[in-house]
Amino acid sequence: MKERIVSGMRPTGKLHLGHYLGVIQNWVELQHKYDSFFFVADWHALTTKYDKTESLRDDVIDVAIDWLASGIDPEISTVYVQSMVPEIAELNVYLGMITPQNWVERDPCLKDMVKILRTKDGQDSQMSYGLLGYPVLMSADIMMMNATHVPVGIDQVAHIEITRDIARRFNHIYKEEFFNEPKPLLNHCSLICGLDGNKMGKSFQNDIKISDTEEVTAKKIMTAITDRSRLRKTDLGHPDECEVAFKYWEIFGTKEQIEKVRFECEKGERGCADCKRQLGALINEKFAPIREKRRYYENHIDEVKDILNEGSKKARIEAQKILTEVRRLVKMY
Ligand code: TRP
Ligand code: SF4
Repeated sequence: MKERIVSGMRPTGKLHLGHYLGVIQNWVELQHKYDSFFFVADWHALTTKYDKTESLRDDVIDVAIDWLASGIDPEISTVYVQSMVPEIAELNVYLGMITPQNWVERDPCLKDMVKILRTKDGQDSQMSYGLLGYPVLMSADIMMMNATHVPVGIDQVAHIEITRDIARRFNHIYKEEFFNEPKPLLNHCSLICGLDGNKMGKSFQNDIKISDTEEVTAKKIMTAITDRSRLRKTDLGHPDECEVAFKYWEIFGTKEQIEKVRFECEKGERGCADCKRQLGALINEKFAPIREKRRYYENHIDEVKDILNEGSKKARIEAQKILTEVRRLVKMY
């Protein structure tokens, strides 16, 4: 029997290259090796944006389109929407009952989220009961499919630790080794920073979207930070101090390309503007097939909705099997 992965993303709208390199690319590879479930976590979006839901439906579709365009194959993987699998909410109730309050209060990921919320919405913005339950709901997502592994970024690992604790506690309380203790599956690709050298993020306006046009991408790349000590093309450059542009070369270039850039930069034979023009072209070349596929899905939204409907049906069948056992173990009627 194949081992099983579950992973999800909040519907934050159109995804950027950080999502692609950090998460999606990993999923695309893993889907051939594991029985795979990928879902859009629209309930998790409500934990912080319950009062800003105007674009939520469109955001769900946008995330799904980015996944499909990037190579998530709905023939191999089950692609679904969290709120379309209501069994998860029931499991969330059972897991909430057995989770000690201090386990969720200690969650460092949650502490970070609250900090961000406070700085955005003001000092007195309260943590809701739902937000406090974020890691429990996430555990329900994962345990709903009884996953063995969860492919996530390093920032999510503390959540997965709680899931393992909750799974162990469930098995202990209801006296059966029913749930797996799912392990995080980290990917080892280098993190891509934003154009300004900080973490790439939508709200920092330093990101390149998968969905950006070639023109927009080229323009954005021209704003990437380079070696700050360099004023003229003939100044000798320091690729290792070229904070963003050279890092991007190292991510997207071949070994030969990277060596050539380094050599010419250090000898003062390469201007930064030219260098970034080439870099933009390289990135556009790499994403051309993904963007073409993306345009196809943008023009066939009904097909995307069908995929999510079908995937959610498949996920529910799996979820109902697990839930039947859970109800039996907890002694529900
Ligand atoms: N918290 C995750 C994020 O912000 C999204 C998520 C929700 C998730 N449920 C999950 C990830 C279950 C993995 C497994 O990216
Ligand atoms: Fe960076 Fe390229 Fe300029 Fe060298 S030439 S500093 S690698 S942008």
